Amino acid sequence: MRRFAGQTVFVTGGNKGIGRGIAKRFAEEGAKVAIAAIEKDTPAAAEALANETGADVIGIVLDVTDAAAVRDAYGAAEAKLGAISVSVQNAGVITIAKVEDLTEREWDLNLDVNTKGVFLCCQEAIRRFRASGSKGRLINTASGQARQGFIYTPHYAASKFGVVGVTQSLAKELAREGITVNAICPGIIHTEMWDYNDRVWGQMLGEYGPGELMAEWVEGIPMGRAGTPAEVGALVAFLASEDAAYITGQTINVDGGLIMS
Ligand SMILES: NC(=O)c1ccc[n+]([C@@H]2O[C@H](COP(=O)([O-])OP(=O)(O)OC[C@H]3O[C@@H](n4cnc5c(N)ncnc54)[C@H](O)[C@@H]3O)[C@@H](O)[C@H]2O)c1
Repeated sequence: MRRFAGQTVFVTGGNKGIGRGIAKRFAEEGAKVAIAAIEKDTPAAAEALANETGADVIGIVLDVTDAAAVRDAYGAAEAKLGAISVSVQNAGVITIAKVEDLTEREWDLNLDVNTKGVFLCCQEAIRRFRASGSKGRLINTASGQARQGFIYTPHYAASKFGVVGVTQSLAKELAREGITVNAICPGIIHTEMWDYNDRVWGQMLGEYGPGELMAEWVEGIPMGRAGTPAEVGALVAFLASEDAAYITGQTINVDGGLIMS
């Protein structure tokens, strides 16, 4: 399928992990893709994705917590690739700490990147959808922790519940303009973030060796396996497609049945 031929898609955190799976799916379906992420090697990651897919892919180094930088990044993407019609707010961070150790800095980092960053990118994308008259699509990466808080991550859970709030509020404001806003909740997807989770949660919850906590949690997934960035990309592409024109304000799990609400 080449559902996005001629369209420009912006993906935050698109250089690796889940975001790369999302960016790759759009590239394979004909889109021009801008990936924006905090790592300095983001342009090199874009070049690698362009070589792999044959698509136009550019990489922009961006801190999503900086409103002026967000504005510049969307401007740079449109200058190179044309008007953006899909924006995926996927960049995120997690830290894990017991309540007595959780610092204000950690609280602010999680809320700033995961919630404010999502909002700032939605806000800039909306300005651009309106300027170009596009019935744009916004897709925000939340988490299973937007459904249910987990131990040692109240700040992360708050940030991801916040993503759902932002999604629903914007969906209501934009519905009459034909702009849809949806959130996705990945479960356990094997990425660098999950490696960190496995190591730190594993140390804090008991005597787990590398990979052991993940294996135990994966065993609890009805489908009995972790998900892949490509499987998340497939859901995001559906939500960005014409087939999802009547879906807005929704929060959709992609987790092998881990959470059924
Ligand atoms: N891996 C999982 O199991 C899982 C589960 C649920 C939700 N998520 C969410 O999925 C998203 C992607 O996670 P991942 O597992 O691919 O993690 P990852 O650590 O592999 O990637 C995180 C991405 O976020 C970007 N990022 C972090 N801070 C940024 C900032 N200030 N500005 C711009 N970019 C920034 C990084 O550059 C990177 O591209 C996150 O929002 C995460 O919370 C992941």
